[in-house]
Amino acid sequence: LEWIEILGGQPLNGSVKVQGSKNAVLPILAATILHKGVTVLKGCPKITDVYYMIQILEHLGSIIKWEEDTLMIDTLALNSCIIPTEYANKMRSSIFLLGSMLGRFQEARLPYPGGCVIGERPIELHLAGLKKLHVKIEEGVEELVAKAEQIIGGEVKFPFPSVGATENVILASVLGKGTTYIKGAAKEPEIMELCRFLNTMGADISGAGSDEIVIQGVEKLHDVEFKVVTDRIVAGTYILAAISSHGKITLIDAPVSHMTTLLEIIERMGVIYQNESGRLHIDATGKLKSVLHIKTEPYPGFPTDLQSQFIAVIAALEGECYIHETLFEARFKVAEELNKMGAQITYDNHVARIIGGSTLYGTKVEAKELRGGAALVVAAIGAKGITSIKNRHFIDRGYEDICKDLISLGANIICQECC
Ligand code: EPZ
Repeated sequence: LEWIEILGGQPLNGSVKVQGSKNAVLPILAATILHKGVTVLKGCPKITDVYYMIQILEHLGSIIKWEEDTLMIDTLALNSCIIPTEYANKMRSSIFLLGSMLGRFQEARLPYPGGCVIGERPIELHLAGLKKLHVKIEEGVEELVAKAEQIIGGEVKFPFPSVGATENVILASVLGKGTTYIKGAAKEPEIMELCRFLNTMGADISGAGSDEIVIQGVEKLHDVEFKVVTDRIVAGTYILAAISSHGKITLIDAPVSHMTTLLEIIERMGVIYQNESGRLHIDATGKLKSVLHIKTEPYPGFPTDLQSQFIAVIAALEGECYIHETLFEARFKVAEELNKMGAQITYDNHVARIIGGSTLYGTKVEAKELRGGAALVVAAIGAKGITSIKNRHFIDRGYEDICKDLISLGANIICQECC
């Protein structure tokens, strides 16, 4: 079991460079198989989910190597469109390979991506969208088999702007025949980055970032060198850690234009921020106040991936707050752990009520999933005494080295691994 031990109460003070974005690079890694050649990804984050995706791509026949934070992927020799169960069950993001393997081979065979602690994570919107592109899908007990004589562009209408479903339909239609229209598309920055990457390789996609995306099928793509955008959720996590400790930090290369909703809210709470030439200065040393209500929404609304970390901050600020989680049905699991630290949180599937003003005290807590684990780190940074957080591996799925980053921001963190 790996764990992180943090002595809290020390205001953060320092600067850190923000890593590449997990949720941008995972669909981009899947997209590399649409090109029979070489892709160079600069600023690729060294996180567990990327390592899993690399394992799967190598299993399919890609040749991949790292050079510092640059990943070279050669898919010329790719020779399989079958993902064995042992791989995909480790990580949901293998679902993006459904669209990209269809794009390359017009065929794909892969196990269902597992659900997870935060929700059931169904994929019916992915499958319905792909069927509009003339894909036949057999839903077996253990795995999905998808086939198409030819991917033919069609009109896809999403009743809900699913990020993954939007990405899968884009990936399947890039090399298809004709034009695909996606209405009700997700507008997340990660969609914009995937389309920017694909267009850099020679695809013909317009409308990314709006709810209508048009993909004109092209014959083939070409080699590309691409810089991965930095991670807005990692940056937001460190901002919330600074607020939790009433500190003053600088984030280098944060994707500020993708963080406006969070920045507006923290300004209302009394935090001062300034963005100048790629350095985002955060000053949370003044008097801070809570907010009454936060609702998570698809982009550009408040991101669900910062909801738990935000609760960790609110728990210690005077005032009552309601958090409405509209995207996932089980994303308040971390409340039990925060309550062990002295927080006062009650919740049901979609609404949490936080009575703020608690002093949080260090104790033994357990990470149960990625962002809940990050929330425990945020709480521990501001808590009195020592907090031991078990199951650090959940956090490593999305954070390259949260200990190293927070130590460079002045936190008292002892990362320990005990067998
Ligand atoms: C992506 O997940 C992100 N993951 C998630 O980040 C993020 O929370 C989510 O988008 C929302 O922003 C990656 O990009 C790898 P969705 P995804 O399809 O694509 C339901 C993190 O912490 N739904 O927009 O799975 C679904 O169950 C992770 O980095 C259906 O019902 O998100 C969920 O409740 C967590 N049917 C909601 O929609 C479907 O066919 C949002 O899902 C698809 C989705």
